[in-house]
Amino acid sequence: MNHREALEALRRLDREYRHLCHVLALLQWDQETCLPKDGVMDRSEQLALLGGMAHEQLIDPKVGKHLAEAGVTEKNPQGDERFSGEERDFLRVFSKEYYKAIKLPPDFVRYAAKAEGLSQAAWVEARQKSDFSFFMPHLSTMVEIAKKRTQYWGYGDRAYDGLLDIYEPGMTEQGIQEIFAPLAVKLKDLAERITAKGIEPSIFSASRYDSGIQHQFSLKLMDYLGFDTKRGRLDTSAHPFTTTLGTRDVRITTRYIEENPLSGIFSTIHEMGHAFYELGLPDNLRGSCLGDGSSMGIHESQSRLWENVIGRSRAFWTGLFPLLGSYFPGQLGSISLDAFIREVNRVALSPIRIEADELSYSLHIILRFELERRLFSGKLSVEELPRAWNALMKEYFNIEVENDREGVLQDVHWSMGSFGYFPSYALGNLYGLQLWKKLCADIPQADSCIAQGKFEKIRAWLNETVYVWGRRLCPEALLIKATGQKLKADSFMEYIETKYTAIYGL
Ligand code: CO
Repeated sequence: MNHREALEALRRLDREYRHLCHVLALLQWDQETCLPKDGVMDRSEQLALLGGMAHEQLIDPKVGKHLAEAGVTEKNPQGDERFSGEERDFLRVFSKEYYKAIKLPPDFVRYAAKAEGLSQAAWVEARQKSDFSFFMPHLSTMVEIAKKRTQYWGYGDRAYDGLLDIYEPGMTEQGIQEIFAPLAVKLKDLAERITAKGIEPSIFSASRYDSGIQHQFSLKLMDYLGFDTKRGRLDTSAHPFTTTLGTRDVRITTRYIEENPLSGIFSTIHEMGHAFYELGLPDNLRGSCLGDGSSMGIHESQSRLWENVIGRSRAFWTGLFPLLGSYFPGQLGSISLDAFIREVNRVALSPIRIEADELSYSLHIILRFELERRLFSGKLSVEELPRAWNALMKEYFNIEVENDREGVLQDVHWSMGSFGYFPSYALGNLYGLQLWKKLCADIPQADSCIAQGKFEKIRAWLNETVYVWGRRLCPEALLIKATGQKLKADSFMEYIETKYTAIYGL
């Protein structure tokens, strides 16, 4: 086979692999949104079977043969120089997935999958009992498996870098540390100044917001922001998420809390931000390994831009608050726009990450990053983890953790062996604001567009600057191309300081 025929064969294999992944995602979407309770048993087997088939497709010996024919080696992942830039990006990204997959022995993959299942079950029980010791041996196993995996990939004693690379290609522990450490100090200081002023109670506590009406408003919101419902839909699930089921089918979910309409509204906006990215990927990359976000963090930058920077701004609610009021006239009729804006930006430090406000969210992430890097460098043992968690919670938030459930057991990620994932959330905030600053320089009237509910220019800018690249650029390359600069926390910190100083009159 010549180099071009080999490329075409690889594209076909890649496309079939993505189809299998999308079918898997459909089964998962169904499980999260509408599967009857007793359907779960068969569904687990279906997912395991199909997951195995997808993996087999990726590690098929034909893939290795065609990669060699296309001139690809690990040292030269872009293959033959006669290929175009996009073709070489395809080979680089596809071969990286392939090499990572074939380096893991099948016995190890099976062992890891089984251990992960047991670990998750143990985590659920430990969390119910609020007893870390029950989960501890499983967590030790998950840490060992993660280390072993990075050894197979060739990271040697830089295990944590190997884990970060899964979610943020090119990012390293040291690079992130240099950004997070000074950021933690600034965020902690700002949070202290705000909490010193006293925390206001929520304005929503007295009323109920019917979830059916909330759903009607969410659908209206999708329309308002310009979501194309011919290419996606909205459903509800326990934990909101976005999933791509095909090149023109992106599903989002949200959840409604009847005591507080903001949860549903901001979940819907957040997931729409993810969906805009997926739906904005260019046609020529769709259905291939390049038809995805640059990284977890860049994906998160898009959801958080819409949710926080746009969705929690005064401009946004200037246009939308009267409409929201028309859905809930009895509950919101007497609430002023000012009071509402304060409520959507209310700072209330909590030990729980998923309840965190925009300001303290990144601190929760930095705490986890700090513990993960100590765990993987051997400075911290799994046994010492709860104590280290509680000490950092005291240091960053001045909060005494009352029990393991509200502390070290609160997140599912570690039980699944997903170490190195957390930093992406905070990086998303930083990427997002660095991009936003450039967007506002290029579109000086962005604020008035938002106030008028006209998002076309903003969407077009994100399209041309971020979406169009899919996975062709790693996060750092994307940022440099878009903003001319490597990642810095400056834009994010400036935004947070300006916004909260104004809201809280500091
Ligand atoms: Co998200």
